[in-house]
Amino acid sequence: MTPSVGTIDATRPPRPAPCDDLATWDREHVWHAFTQMQEYEPLLIERGEGAWLVDTSGRRYIDGSASMWCNVHGHRHPRLDAAVREQLDRVAHVTNLGLSNPTTVAFARRLVEIAPPGLDRVFFTGDGSSATEAALKMAFQYWRQAARPEPARTRFVAIGDAYHGDTLGAIGVGGVDRFTALFAPLTFDALRLPSPALPRPGTATPPSLAESLAGLEALLVAHAGTVAAVIMEPLVQMAGGVLVHPEGFLRGVREITQRHDVLLILDEIAVGFGRTGTMFACEQEAVVPDLLCLAKGLTAGYLPMAATLATGRIWEAFLGTHAEHRTFFHGHTYGGNPLAAAVGLASLDIFRDEDVLAELPAKIARLEAGVARLAALPHVGAVRQCGLVAGVELVHTVADAARARPAVPYPWQEQRGTRACLAARRHGALLRQLGDVVVVMPPLCIDDDEIDLLVAAAEAGVVEATA
Ligand SMILES: Cc1ncc(COP(=O)(O)O)c(C=O)c1O
Repeated sequence: MTPSVGTIDATRPPRPAPCDDLATWDREHVWHAFTQMQEYEPLLIERGEGAWLVDTSGRRYIDGSASMWCNVHGHRHPRLDAAVREQLDRVAHVTNLGLSNPTTVAFARRLVEIAPPGLDRVFFTGDGSSATEAALKMAFQYWRQAARPEPARTRFVAIGDAYHGDTLGAIGVGGVDRFTALFAPLTFDALRLPSPALPRPGTATPPSLAESLAGLEALLVAHAGTVAAVIMEPLVQMAGGVLVHPEGFLRGVREITQRHDVLLILDEIAVGFGRTGTMFACEQEAVVPDLLCLAKGLTAGYLPMAATLATGRIWEAFLGTHAEHRTFFHGHTYGGNPLAAAVGLASLDIFRDEDVLAELPAKIARLEAGVARLAALPHVGAVRQCGLVAGVELVHTVADAARARPAVPYPWQEQRGTRACLAARRHGALLRQLGDVVVVMPPLCIDDDEIDLLVAAAEAGVVEATA
């Protein structure tokens, strides 16, 4: 009997899956994130070890993007692997809607212990966008339920070129046009503060630190009583193109928000867990936000989990009897997943036991020395670095200060950044671009020799793509 469409044919032997088939199925069935599928060339990674990834044909690559900015201690770290296995022997998932489990509680407690003081309530979600989405909704709801309610506070101030995720709320406060412009009719209208990041080739000179802070002050005065919160990525705007803020910007924003009694949401999704050299970027300017968004490195790059940490002030506004209707009616099925919490706990143990932060300054210096070489290449307009991440910006023509000529960017259609990253693969590194910025962002566990290999591969990729 021929099985009808939609039934399982038990007589058919299981299909073997040679790599060629997998590559075809990948192209045909998997819709990859941020990827033009018509041009997609499959690369299937089968294994990982430390800072390395291995494809199905056995080729090894340094994981130069930390598997999209989240891997911290390397792939297949024995302690992280063991933590997942041990939790699996207990339970893989229980809901956190009105219920809990010991691992997730312990993880929340550890997060509170290491977070900036006062951020002692933890709301778990599944990915970074969900963490910022939750923070925005918390800030909005807070002002309706605060001891002295101010329901007119419904707006958000966001920094130009910001990136806070892809859900509609998150892109409402996002400022990278190629990700957000199409969806503008669906999103809310945030107030924008131009990014004070260091000058970028081919863009207007950014405002100085003083101008930026004066701009924020003016915005909050002009919209007095209507702003719920300022949201920003502290120290460096990653997806905007590794845009490093001038020192003092974060501190200045905190002072101004406090003066105007506006909440501050810090998005440490990309920079939290050591990336900038300290556990949290906001520590470097001694700033404590009202809401702190974490994801990516939260589970060392093992499992999807995010967290929005809130102060007692926020939390208390949500307390009351059910009938008072102050509950935060928000959450996701897998929020607080115990497998993710187990690996997050083990990751914090590794930070504590293995001197991860203490070893960072030397690694950061090594990366700095390496990328300085790239800065001298004829089509590199700028190299920006913050901690263990560097952005190498490719340009058609570099600026000529003597003749007061600004840099000329490449036409975006030429995709020089993408070409550089694809070329770097042939030299043994997996990198990811942001437009024409090649981002070098390895796991924190990378060693000196690996940093040198990574930089050399990036350099070869840039040279080939700009030849
Ligand atoms: C600063 C920042 N916020 C939010 C996000 C969104 O996180 P996710 O991709 O996990 O939704 C990202 C992702 O790159 C990010 O860099």
